[in-house]
Amino acid sequence: MTTIRAETPADIEAISEVNRLAFGRENEARLVETIRDTPGFIPALSLVAERDGRVVGHVLFSRIAIRTGGGPDIPALALAPVAVLPEHQGQGIGAALIRTGLDRARDLGHRIVVVVGHPNYYPRFGFTPARAQGLEAPFPVSDPAFMALALVPGALDGVHGLVVYPEAFDGGDTGAAMGVRGRRRPGMMAFGELDGTATVPRARG
Ligand SMILES: CC(C)(COP(=O)(O)OP(=O)(O)OC[C@H]1O[C@@H](n2cnc3c(N)ncnc32)[C@H](O)[C@@H]1OP(=O)(O)O)[C@@H](O)C(=O)NCCC(=O)NCCS
Repeated sequence: MTTIRAETPADIEAISEVNRLAFGRENEARLVETIRDTPGFIPALSLVAERDGRVVGHVLFSRIAIRTGGGPDIPALALAPVAVLPEHQGQGIGAALIRTGLDRARDLGHRIVVVVGHPNYYPRFGFTPARAQGLEAPFPVSDPAFMALALVPGALDGVHGLVVYPEAFDGGDTGAAMGVRGRRRPGMMAFGELDGTATVPRARG
């Protein structure tokens, strides 16, 4: 049986390991560790999937914003990353993590979620292309891979602007938000690289 629950301090190392093994590199594990130390981290929305007492999957939703140019920034969440241990993939664990996370985010009053990921994976959760809804990305990404979801009906109505990410997404650089300066930063590779047409074997997000 798989249980989805919020992370506890005892899960931190296991979460890093799940991300390392799922992605085959350090970037996403480091991203989670960095975000955890920022105000954008929401403990209730860092979820683990536990099976037989072992953490086999993880998803993180953290705070981002939509800069409209006129009024105040509009709060939103980034879904990133989501990871399931290779030997547990393809069994619905990623979907359970995402669905539970979206439900909890809605219950907590969040209204908008943005994801950069595989266009074949995220639409099943209700995500649709974000540019068509008036959002801009601060980094190069194809239209289908840049997606948004209104957690409550109408949350994206009339919301036009640039999605801005905290510097945690910027590889630790203490500069502007990810990609706003128009070039790739080390920490944004997982997102900026993915344009839905590149050779990316797995759904990313
Ligand atoms: C993306 C990921 C989180 C999905 O979790 P999961 O538990 O494997 O996914 P689910 O079982 O919920 O959904 C399966 C779907 O995901 C894809 N998928 C996931 N694992 C797969 C696998 N091993 N082989 C083939 N397809 C796979 C398929 O598109 C499948 O689609 P289908 O339902 O139409 O067949 C997981 O595969 C993973 O950790 N991948 C590596 C890391 C990554 O790319 N993360 C996302 C970017 S942040």
